[in-house]
Amino acid sequence: MPHVLTLPVLTVLALVGACAEPAELMESLTTTEAASTAAATETGAGAPTVTYHRDVRPLLARHCLGCHQEGGIAPIALDSAAAAAAFAGPIAAATASRAMPPFPADNSGACHSFRDARWLTDAELATLATWAEEGAPAGDPGSAPAEPPPPTGLDGEVRTLAMAADYTPRAELEDDYRCFVIEGAAPAEGETFVTGFDVRPGNPRIVHHVIVYAPRSAEAVKQARALDAAEPGDGYTCFGTSQVTAAVAAAWAPGGKPTRYPEGIGVRLQPGAPVIMQMHYNTLAGPGMSDRTAVDLRVAAGGVTPARFVGLADLGLALPPGEAEVTTAHTGPAGKPTGAPMRIHGVFPHMHTLGRSLEIRHPASDSCVISVPRYEFHWQLLYFYEQPLVLPADPTLTITCRYDTRTRAELTRWGEGTMDEMCVAGLLVTDG
Ligand code: HEC
Repeated sequence: MPHVLTLPVLTVLALVGACAEPAELMESLTTTEAASTAAATETGAGAPTVTYHRDVRPLLARHCLGCHQEGGIAPIALDSAAAAAAFAGPIAAATASRAMPPFPADNSGACHSFRDARWLTDAELATLATWAEEGAPAGDPGSAPAEPPPPTGLDGEVRTLAMAADYTPRAELEDDYRCFVIEGAAPAEGETFVTGFDVRPGNPRIVHHVIVYAPRSAEAVKQARALDAAEPGDGYTCFGTSQVTAAVAAAWAPGGKPTRYPEGIGVRLQPGAPVIMQMHYNTLAGPGMSDRTAVDLRVAAGGVTPARFVGLADLGLALPPGEAEVTTAHTGPAGKPTGAPMRIHGVFPHMHTLGRSLEIRHPASDSCVISVPRYEFHWQLLYFYEQPLVLPADPTLTITCRYDTRTRAELTRWGEGTMDEMCVAGLLVTDG
């Protein structure tokens, strides 16, 4: 389902419209209940096999409610028995197609699995499908298992960085990508490593993702400050990336929890340098709203192995227009040679809006590094492996990207602009 963004939004608007009237909602619930009774009678089974309270609610709480609650980014709230029942069909359909929860990478185990993956098992998919088929029975509230405690925050030394002022996304844009230069991330003296993060969106209705970039040189810091100064208001427009040479220090999308980097590693910040916080605002759910987001960085002054991002990029892109499928592949080294085995902790895949899927393989061992079969520009994630992947020294990797260029009339090349494309991944690695 490549058009996760546009098509479903229309569906959602239609759905939301349909339940605007409480009377209609009640009616649809009554119908649902009747259907449930009918289904139970037909199958001859006295009690439904799957119920909301016992089976569905815990699943929604774990995988969906981070976004699907009042005030969340998703246009429909699914946090009550009535609301969930009203949407039982769409819930079953959206999960079966893996459009929901948004998790573009393959976590099935065919190409590794990732920490804190928003990924339903086949058994969970079957639970939702059966529940919808049987008419979305509520069941007995007393049968609900205890809800797990909310995730704990970050431990250790935490540095809070926040936008200096409220920002109102530009009304003429459905998607406003804005970079804020936030000073004070790393003192001029001594070392600073980021070992974890917790993003606190100021206005969860409009914050679609947050990527914190650590500029990699004094020159990059200068460029970011210049970009900021050149545009009126706080921050600067930054569609694809931070627009300067920088490493990803944190990446977050709605529903994201406090994240600790794998034990013993950290991303180094330039002494005295700011971080660049890239905000993606989507204004469909709340036009005219403003935001001020903060990020807590868990930092260490040392005692960790510096992890670095190495890039694997296909810079020679030349995508012909008007084609449903254009596939490109590039094979090359990832980063500079070190002579040491490469331990890969995480991956940040990146294309622009024409991107549909991305895969990285290690040809020498004929093995998969990451597969992103449902790439979605608006759901960019930093994936951490359950177990780091160890490859022989100085590996040669192949990155394959697939695009849909039907909206374009001209050749599309590599670049930072809205109309340019990318085919790149940042691999978070250490030696050994
Ligand atoms: C990270 C946030 C997030 C999570 C987690 C999430 N959703 Fe969504 N959901 C959205 C957004 C945003 C939309 C609106 C359409 C879009 O942007 O893709 C949506 C749309 C939907 C729709 C409307 C139809 C469709 O296909 O788009 C359904 C149904 C749905 N979600 C069900 C679920 C279920 C069930 C879960 C959990 C198993 C879930 N969602 C988890 C954010 C989320």
